[in-house]
Amino acid sequence: PASAARLAHGDLAVGGVPLTEIADRFGTPAYLLDETEVRARCRSYQRVFPSSTVLYAAKAFLCRAMAHWVEDEGLGLDVCSAGELELAFTSGFPPDRIVLHGNAKSPQDLEAALRFGVGRIVIDSPSEIARLAVAVPEGSRQKVMVRVAPGIAAGGHVKIRTGTEDQKFGLSLTDGSAHHAIARILDQPRLELVGLHCHLGSQITSVKPYVSAVRRMVGLMARVRELHGVVLPELDLGGGHGIAYRPGEPALDIAALAGRVRAELAGGCAAAGLPVPRLIIEPGRAVVGQAGVALYRVLAVKRTGEHTFVAVDGGMSDNPRPALYGVRYAPRLVGRRSSAPLVPVTVAGRHCEAGDVLAGGAELPADLHPGDLLAVPVAGAYHLSMASGYNLVGRPPVVAVADGHARLLVRRESLADFRSRDVGL
Ligand code: LLP
Repeated sequence: PASAARLAHGDLAVGGVPLTEIADRFGTPAYLLDETEVRARCRSYQRVFPSSTVLYAAKAFLCRAMAHWVEDEGLGLDVCSAGELELAFTSGFPPDRIVLHGNAKSPQDLEAALRFGVGRIVIDSPSEIARLAVAVPEGSRQKVMVRVAPGIAAGGHVKIRTGTEDQKFGLSLTDGSAHHAIARILDQPRLELVGLHCHLGSQITSVKPYVSAVRRMVGLMARVRELHGVVLPELDLGGGHGIAYRPGEPALDIAALAGRVRAELAGGCAAAGLPVPRLIIEPGRAVVGQAGVALYRVLAVKRTGEHTFVAVDGGMSDNPRPALYGVRYAPRLVGRRSSAPLVPVTVAGRHCEAGDVLAGGAELPADLHPGDLLAVPVAGAYHLSMASGYNLVGRPPVVAVADGHARLLVRRESLADFRSRDVGL
């Protein structure tokens, strides 16, 4: 049976569950999450980075089952809000394996992090140091890291590049603000600086920027020891590991990444006379992206001039990525087999704007008609986690598929949900 990651036209099932059955039982649009695929990706990270800490970046997608699978496979978790933290905690995730991020942490975020007892808080601004120091109860110490902007441009789109110095994340290496923050943290008895962090960006397909980052971060670690006599035991290189959205697209080679990063770290530390720090990585997309499938029902097929528009029952409210980053997907006709030739079509959503296109230039069988099911593979990361309430269509459910069974993880957002939040009349 087809796995979520390798779906083809005419496939009838995912994870051993017939797609028509899923559509009938849970309705469309629906998001399927292949548990076997998620667990396999976790295991391959653990295998390739055996003596490192692998944190799953919850922003890619989080629900309690997802947190549980990741925990069960031995990974930690990167969260960036009290909301993600709460969900992880109520799934039973051990808080000491959780790291809190954020360039603008709210008082609630910091309060929740301290109350749950997260393992690390990554400091991203000077003002956060004092806020955190007073929030930590007397007599205890919170482990923290400093997020550095290493001045490296990498990432699949300008909106998701976070390693340069002209964006909002991290403290600059060149203007002294990273040094200044480090010195201030070392002065705080309630904060324990355990390491440095950087996250270059997302959808990176080359190992080179990571190697450059190691070089710069080791340079900073050496400087910290020189200035303060402090040896930092951890180095977090963030996530950003790129995946292929369509067959033939490049993806980051995780084994090559591990090899090159380890070699650079060992060499750089030896040259600087530093012990090799524990490496931390934070993949999100590469863990869950290929495990997700968006399942839509075709509602209309329309030919206008040269274009064929295939309109489905979801759209930019469940997947804003094509509109935001111009990403291209490869939708598949599923649930029935067709021998019609493949023709170029535009798969559009149901929302009230022309930019609501899920897949331009998609190749689909010419006999496609209303009622057909379309599956969009590689839908696991940054779809539902960025889903909106646009047009009050309601966010789709999440259904886990594994070994021939389908199980509802997150229910569909209903009209009752909209009514219950609207308290003003
Ligand atoms: N660590 C930090 C501190 C991050 O900010 C992120 C992602 C990650 C790890 C995980 O990155 P990943 O391995 O998933 O690339 N909405 C965009 C992606 C934004 C990424 C934000 N930060 C998209 O749909 O492409």
